Amino acid sequence: MKLKIFKGCYYIFLILLILLFYTKDINLFGKRFYKNIKIIQKEEDILVLVNKNNKLTKSYVPTSLVKINTKYAHKEKYLRLEAKEAFERLSKNAYKNGMKIIAVSTYRSFDYQENLFKGYVKDFGKKYALQCSAKPGHSEHQTGLAVDVMGSNGDYNLFEEAKEFSWMRENAHKYGFILRYPKGKEKITGFKYEPWHYRYVGVYPATIMYQENLTLEEWKEKYG
Ligand code: DAL
Ligand code: ZN
Repeated sequence: MKLKIFKGCYYIFLILLILLFYTKDINLFGKRFYKNIKIIQKEEDILVLVNKNNKLTKSYVPTSLVKINTKYAHKEKYLRLEAKEAFERLSKNAYKNGMKIIAVSTYRSFDYQENLFKGYVKDFGKKYALQCSAKPGHSEHQTGLAVDVMGSNGDYNLFEEAKEFSWMRENAHKYGFILRYPKGKEKITGFKYEPWHYRYVGVYPATIMYQENLTLEEWKEKYG
């Protein structure tokens, strides 16, 4: 009898172990994205974390938004001064190396993002929209520190195929930029892979994130 109970417990334990192994990457309790949202206090911090759980207020507009030299931007595009200067340096040096890196989307207001998100929902459905567009207040484009770029193939959607993409992967951190939504980190960032979206964080943090293959979320957890 005792042996039967022991065997029963042993098998239950074994099954639990197997279940744990196969479900360790599955969020069993529903997605944590857009839950327990915190309102960001230090909006002006260069290392500010804006994501599905950290929200900027509707009224937040960054100070020192400045226009990017139109040589490096499609039409009039604005970034915060520090990010703008770094982006222009990056584009200028890329240009010297035969590369063309152009800003196609930079600062976006809360209202602009709201319409953009609604447009994605209307055109592609909510499930897809949630994977590739942030709800208003949750886009780091509102910080004036994010930039979507296109290369010499002229389409940001195809940036990964442009020669500029590999240059960016090797050099962006030297100017303080990180690839913000990398492949394989979707469960952490909450967004699909975006080869075109770069975020200014400053040279030193960007270099650490690049060398250690960390997202901003992971960097904050480890060093923040
Ligand atoms: N596409 C990025 C996630 C944004 O909407 O900010
Ligand atoms: Zn973007």
